[in-house]
Amino acid sequence: MPANTTDEDQIVRVPLGCRAYDIRIGGNLLSRAGEFITPVLRRKRVAIITDDVVGPLHLKTLEDSLNATGVEHSSITLPAGEATKSMSQYGELMDTLLEKQVGRDEALIALGGGVIGDLTGFAASTLRRGIDFIQIPTTLLSQVDSSVGGKTGINSPYGKNLIGAFYQPKLVLADVDMLNTLSKRELLAGYAEVVKYGLLGDFAFFEWLEKNGAAVIHGETAARIEAVKRSVQAKADIVQKDEREGGVRALLNLGHTFGHALEAETGYGGSLVHGEGVAIGMLMAMDLSATLGHLKQQDIQRVEQHYDATGLLKNLPSIQNIIWNSENLLKHMYQDKKVDQGKLTFILMKSIGNAFITQEADTSSVLETLEKFVCKIEAEA
Ligand code: GLY
Repeated sequence: MPANTTDEDQIVRVPLGCRAYDIRIGGNLLSRAGEFITPVLRRKRVAIITDDVVGPLHLKTLEDSLNATGVEHSSITLPAGEATKSMSQYGELMDTLLEKQVGRDEALIALGGGVIGDLTGFAASTLRRGIDFIQIPTTLLSQVDSSVGGKTGINSPYGKNLIGAFYQPKLVLADVDMLNTLSKRELLAGYAEVVKYGLLGDFAFFEWLEKNGAAVIHGETAARIEAVKRSVQAKADIVQKDEREGGVRALLNLGHTFGHALEAETGYGGSLVHGEGVAIGMLMAMDLSATLGHLKQQDIQRVEQHYDATGLLKNLPSIQNIIWNSENLLKHMYQDKKVDQGKLTFILMKSIGNAFITQEADTSSVLETLEKFVCKIEAEA
């Protein structure tokens, strides 16, 4: 067991006044879920939203646990995948929930990854003008990022997450044992978001990951609990200061301005998943930081060594089949919903653990970073 870690459940509180809630992190949580969910329910009746990959693996365990605590439940299983975060699936889901007469005093439970969490949260925020919801994230990415902080929503043909609401859950249950059913690729994509917390604000956590990253990836429960706890604690601290992203919350977008452009260029298909885009995007943000004189090359090398040691960004042959173009990538960056008065917002770094927000990156330096990426991919193809 890595030093300073434990198999016991950990609780991180998101202190948002009357919207405050707990994130419970532990092993074997799903079979104990009823015990933790019951105290936050107004009425012992819930509707579970899941997908056709997660449902067959985990739904019965959750249902058994709710039965054991006398919570009445129904479930809705949606197709797995990003396409489910659409206006049509949202409309159908709302109709199904209304047909089932899900009332204002009931709660929705999101059992799944980011797609199910975002869609369920948005449905909860609008059903009968808002009902309670609980997040049970089943991927590393959703455990450390999307289930926490209340960003909910769906995609539009105009872009990702353009329709949505800030709407906090009543409880998050992050069962690290559920990560055992993830593919290595999904796990590593989520791990990129874990590394993000070290890079943006916590050098000691990055050092911890250098020592324990392999244990996190290979499934040691105590290491996973510690990694998820430290990640969500970092996120909770930021969300407490800036719930609706007027300022400091933008730090959580380290790697995302570049990453979203890469994702957009690949058409949000399977050739580059979100965490992979973020992993590449963080390297690009570091490159831009160095070009602008903020970051030392040795910090970049250290992060690259950690990527190599953990296998992050290994085996991404599908991105080599794409003809990348730096001008196109720049265009995608200007579509980002965080463009402010025509200016791109970047999260750059002064050192590992010290990121900052700026709109002062000149276009030619940004293009230089994009071109280096395009050349690197061409060289590796
Ligand atoms: N995923 C970034 C945020 O929640 O603000």
